[in-house]
Amino acid sequence: MAMEATPLLTPYTMGEFNLAHRSVKYGKVVLAPMTRCRSYGNMAELHNVLYYAQRAAPGVVLIAEASAVSAMFIEDNAANMDNIRRFTTEVITAVADEVGAHRLGVRLSPVADYDSDPEALPLHVIRLMNDVGALYCHMVVPRNGIPRSLLPFRKAFKGTFIVNGGYNREEGDKAVGDGYADLVSYGRLFLANPDLPERFRKNEGLNNYDTGTFYTSDPVVGYTDYPFLAQGQETQVAT
Ligand SMILES: Cc1cc2nc3c(=O)[nH]c(=O)nc-3n(C[C@H](O)[C@H](O)[C@H](O)COP(=O)(O)O)c2cc1C
Repeated sequence: MAMEATPLLTPYTMGEFNLAHRSVKYGKVVLAPMTRCRSYGNMAELHNVLYYAQRAAPGVVLIAEASAVSAMFIEDNAANMDNIRRFTTEVITAVADEVGAHRLGVRLSPVADYDSDPEALPLHVIRLMNDVGALYCHMVVPRNGIPRSLLPFRKAFKGTFIVNGGYNREEGDKAVGDGYADLVSYGRLFLANPDLPERFRKNEGLNNYDTGTFYTSDPVVGYTDYPFLAQGQETQVAT
């Protein structure tokens, strides 16, 4: 199997974090947050630790769960852009004050179809992130959302720009190679392939993800039971 250093599989420095390793270079492959419904009582448990440990690899950024609270607030106030701006500003400023902007990343999904100027809010947030010096911006484009180029956001943000939403190995390589993104995050592929960066490196086949077990309340099934390459059960992902 080919083991080339593709744009996706080269080292990267994100702020103070050096996403590289002496021998193995996975630096631009990121785990998207996929933990919804797997933390019972909203507390991290041993099976969550196992899930992240399985996916840990040298230089690979693992993004854990995003907050449901902010999503609910924004939905409830969809018609009120001022409220959303104020809320976002307060959250970003408070988190930056608490942990330091050099450790702050924000996930945005610029797909609001209720908004006559859907770029305005993400650009407002990005300007704020620039002002505080945020580490990364993680942009999600849902596959069934409005097709939209992230280029205006990519150009506006001064930190590390991570893209997400339906990427495979080749598309991730292209996004990084074209300068469309610094890093690419993988959700479903990384869920079903705990050793995804290594499979990318070796250009190996991938396990299918099982949509039927995405949201089951089981600490193992469809969560920590996907096989590694060494276990030899890889198959091609259906498209
Ligand atoms: C089962 C499942 C759980 C998810 N959990 C979360 C979550 O907790 N927080 C979040 O922000 N996004 C969550 N997402 C969205 C993913 O992070 C990602 O944006 C989406 O799967 C698209 O990326 P992909 O095409 O690489 O899978 C989840 C998606 C799935 C399928």
